[in-house]
Amino acid sequence: MSRPNAPRIEIAVGLDVFADVAADHVFAAAVEAVRARGTFRLALAGGSTPRRVHAAMLTDGRSRSSDIGAWDVWFGDERCVAHDDDESNFGMAEDSLFTGLDTRPRVHRVLTEIGPPSVIAAAYEAELVREFGLRAGAPPVFDLVLLGMGADGHTASLFPDDPALEETQRLVLAVKVPRSPPDRVTFTLPVLCAARRVLFLVAGADKAATLRDVLAPGGASSLPAARVCPTSGDVVWLVDDSAARLLPGRG
Ligand code: 6PG
Repeated sequence: MSRPNAPRIEIAVGLDVFADVAADHVFAAAVEAVRARGTFRLALAGGSTPRRVHAAMLTDGRSRSSDIGAWDVWFGDERCVAHDDDESNFGMAEDSLFTGLDTRPRVHRVLTEIGPPSVIAAAYEAELVREFGLRAGAPPVFDLVLLGMGADGHTASLFPDDPALEETQRLVLAVKVPRSPPDRVTFTLPVLCAARRVLFLVAGADKAATLRDVLAPGGASSLPAARVCPTSGDVVWLVDDSAARLLPGRG
């Protein structure tokens, strides 16, 4: 699958710089979105990498640069566990970001307590439709979607060879993934590809080979992370020097 426009790659030397640059990206997008549209529609990434970014967002007075009360925060994926479980993406964001902000943004938590994964996914999709005022079949347009990438090339909870990658209508799907916890809900590619900007946050040497494959010129990779190709938005890959070590010209 070839990619319409080459993604932008930013390499940060060291995890502290990585987190600071990521935080600057978030607040720059927020300032622009609130100025232009009165709100900042943000989808957070899960996993462990975002913790550092959230911590950087709370430093250097960044949170005073934007009206956090105008932020509308969602989750690109969520594990089907209690919101206070150590594995919860909401719980991680609550602990590492929301509790540290002077103003609480509007947070759209995935309601993992309401039933089986299919019910949880349907409820989150219905909330997207309601909150974005979507007509049938139209995806929500986020100002910024933060995404991580696993060493296997997964992103959000879209894993290699999962039929969920071929979904073209649904916005949120329940999936069973080869990681613990296995039951998750995830935004589908139509949502990720409708974003004004996608910011991938990739750090660690264990991701270097996959990052090289995903970013290979010509974009031949069919890995999930390579399939996030916004139709009119752009993709920025913020990677640390460890993850970048196999990229062309870095050897
Ligand atoms: C999740 C994330 C997932 C994550 C990658 C990278 O819920 O786990 O959505 O896609 O971003 O697995 O995770 P790390 O940041 O922990 O490497």
